[in-house]
Amino acid sequence: MFDKERFIDDCRAALKEHSPQAAIRELVAKAVSEPGQITRAFGEPRRAGVETVYKADDLTILNLYWGPGMSVRPHDHRMWAVIGIYGGREENVFYRRGEHGLTRHGTKALEAKETIPLGASIIHGVTNPLERITAALHVYGGDFFAQPRSEWDPQTLHEQPYDVQNTIRAFEESNARLA
Ligand SMILES: [Fe+2]
Repeated sequence: MFDKERFIDDCRAALKEHSPQAAIRELVAKAVSEPGQITRAFGEPRRAGVETVYKADDLTILNLYWGPGMSVRPHDHRMWAVIGIYGGREENVFYRRGEHGLTRHGTKALEAKETIPLGASIIHGVTNPLERITAALHVYGGDFFAQPRSEWDPQTLHEQPYDVQNTIRAFEESNARLA
C-alpha cells in the first residue's frame, strides 16, 4: 500500500545508505509496481502538471503528469535522479556533449512499473507519445529547483540556462490539447 508520508520518510532514510540512489531506486520500483495504489494516493490525473511532493536541500520528490504528446526539451539535472512510471509511457532521448555541441546517443522508452536511475551528468529530453497522461514519480538527490542547470534549444541544440517558463509552456500547450 503506497503512503505518501511513509514514502518521503523512507526516501529520507535511504539518503543515509551507502548508495542513496540505489536505495531510492528500490523504493521507487516498489512504489510503481502497484500503479493503482499510487494513483489512489495522488488522485486520478486530469491535467498535465507537476506536484512537489517533497523538497529539501538534499532531496526533491516530484509527482509528474506529462500531458498528451508533450515534450520537454533536452536538459541536465546536475544531481542524480530516479524515475519511475506508474501510468502511460515516457520516451527518453539521451544526449552527450560533443566537439560540435550536443549529439544523440540513445533512447529509452519507459512503461508503467519501470524505473531508471540517471547519473548527475545525464542530458535528456522527454516525450509522452500517448494521447493520454503519463504519470511519473521523479526523485532527485538535491534541491531540483534551486540547482542552476542547462537546457538545449530543441531545434538548434544550442545550450542555454534552464528556463522554467519553457517547461510551464509545454504543460500549458498540452493542457490546451486535453481541454
Ligand atoms: Fe529530466
